[in-house]
Amino acid sequence: MPRSKTKPASQTKTEPSPALVSVCPNNAKFPLPSEADYAKEFKRLQRAVGQQRRMGREIVVVMGVGFVGAVMAGVVADAVDAQGQPSKFVIGMQRPSRRSFWKIAYLNRGVAPVEADDPEVARMIRRCVLEKKTLTATFTYDVLALADVVVVDVQCDYHKDTFGNVRQGRADIQALEECLKIIGEKIGPDCMVLIETTVPPGTTEYVAYPIVKKEFERRGLGDREPLLAHSFERVMPGRNYVASIRDFWRVCSGVNPEARKRVVAFLSEVLNVEKFPLTVLDRPLESETCKIVENSYRAAILAFMHEWSVFAERNGVDIVKVLKAIKVRPTHSNIMFPGPGIGGYCLPKDGGLGLWSYHTLMGFNDEIFKITPAAIDINDTRGMHVAQLVRDALRNMGKIVAASRVALLGASYREDVGDTRYSGSEVVVRKLAEMGADVEVYDPYLKHWWEFEKQDTYPAPGHSLSRFFRNQHRLQELRMHREMATTLMGADAVVFAVRHEVFLSIDPDAVVKMAGKPVAVVDCFGILDDDQIRRYFELGCEVKGLGRGHVKRIKDEVRGNSPR
Ligand SMILES: NC(=O)c1ccc[n+]([C@@H]2O[C@H](COP(=O)([O-])OP(=O)(O)OC[C@H]3O[C@@H](n4cnc5c(N)ncnc54)[C@H](O)[C@@H]3O)[C@@H](O)[C@H]2O)c1
Repeated sequence: MPRSKTKPASQTKTEPSPALVSVCPNNAKFPLPSEADYAKEFKRLQRAVGQQRRMGREIVVVMGVGFVGAVMAGVVADAVDAQGQPSKFVIGMQRPSRRSFWKIAYLNRGVAPVEADDPEVARMIRRCVLEKKTLTATFTYDVLALADVVVVDVQCDYHKDTFGNVRQGRADIQALEECLKIIGEKIGPDCMVLIETTVPPGTTEYVAYPIVKKEFERRGLGDREPLLAHSFERVMPGRNYVASIRDFWRVCSGVNPEARKRVVAFLSEVLNVEKFPLTVLDRPLESETCKIVENSYRAAILAFMHEWSVFAERNGVDIVKVLKAIKVRPTHSNIMFPGPGIGGYCLPKDGGLGLWSYHTLMGFNDEIFKITPAAIDINDTRGMHVAQLVRDALRNMGKIVAASRVALLGASYREDVGDTRYSGSEVVVRKLAEMGADVEVYDPYLKHWWEFEKQDTYPAPGHSLSRFFRNQHRLQELRMHREMATTLMGADAVVFAVRHEVFLSIDPDAVVKMAGKPVAVVDCFGILDDDQIRRYFELGCEVKGLGRGHVKRIKDEVRGNSPR
């Protein structure tokens, strides 16, 4: 869930009914638009578009202003032509749902609706909305009629029915289908529609094309071919958020030669293609497959490291040093340590979209996929092993998990971002709660952990991981600590779950002081160096870590049990 540092004031003096307001992450309320607002809003947009066209600017509508769409809208609105003049006018379009309407209000005030470590995100949005006036946002689908280009950045989820078995699940392409139908109803026939959403391979040709084509026929435009294109995002929300969209290689394709020509022209005008040339593929099916293979490859090499991490733990090997030694080889430099699970929005689901496409869109019944689903299942369940390490470390100190107080440091899916989507830490907390622990959490990037606070409705009703564990009800009361000291106070165990920079240099003496006693320490991400591990043992603590089999050797040295 994105957060914002800016705190907009409430919109109305009299409190509207909760059903009619959208509440932003800072708890400010924004009333949803009424019927009468739509006509007024469309007039505002028509006026703005008229002015912008007179300045020779192309009109671009970005549908879905979430993590990807909001920043892509900014990048397009910030683009300039050869004379250094803005070449596009961008309208971010967002459904006026209770969950998301506030993003429109934020954007129209020049405030980014996503929290980012990259200061350029906030600067760019403010610049485009308030200074260059090349970016605005709206709730009305009628805006589509004004577009020369539509960029689709709505979500496409993959729902898993069981824990740790991606085969039992399905792609949820409903939001995308609804969006495409409305696009077909409203756009002009010359409008180019660029799908950036990560989709099951085949979606642009086998789902989007027939939907838009049928709407064209219904409107008497049967002789016109929809100009549909696909180009996936490689955005990485983090320190280089903006650059990961603008200054990065892109793959694209179109359903016909005209669509391909248009998408190449558009991307060349808004991205840094001189330094990062485009790869143009023949068909959208190929570009869609490219995205799924790219992310499945990453998921697979991380899952593969899980088994060697367990091997290391059980045989006195420090996997962190092993990986460091391997990375010296240029051919193996991207080998990675998997941490407590592989989160983020993309890696846990994208392989599932591929499997679903093979069976559902392509109509095959056999099971050619072995590695892709196995990788996702291993990554989804790795957090369970952390709970076992907490159990074993506490046991070595004569304690049990039930009723122990466990301090978890880090809730995000990766270092130095405030994004908890599908983070390994969530599984760790759920399993420890199932075993009876009291869990306290601190993450310097997060004020809320919605996966727990709103677990009945987040990420969607019926989709919380809580349904796979017992003892989850009271996790709704989980609140993020604002300080590390209060999190650690009275802790029996401390779990280092994310490699946030502030966690790398924490002094063991300070941890024991804050806890008020020796603690069981579990390192999930190669965070502790050998000196820190040694010091924890000297202080009477117990240490365990994912892939860190050598800790036993350090313990024996400290306690004078070395074989020599
Ligand atoms: N987040 C990432 O790091 C990342 C990276 C690469 C690719 N992607 C892909 O980009 C796509 C978007 O991801 P995201 O992280 O921005 O998702 P998100 O959930 O943050 O944003 C999607 C937005 O679309 C809006 N929306 C849904 N239906 C709509 C409709 N009919 N009309 C208008 N708006 C609608 C939602 O309200 C939401 O604001 C996904 O396919 C994702 O896999 C994401």
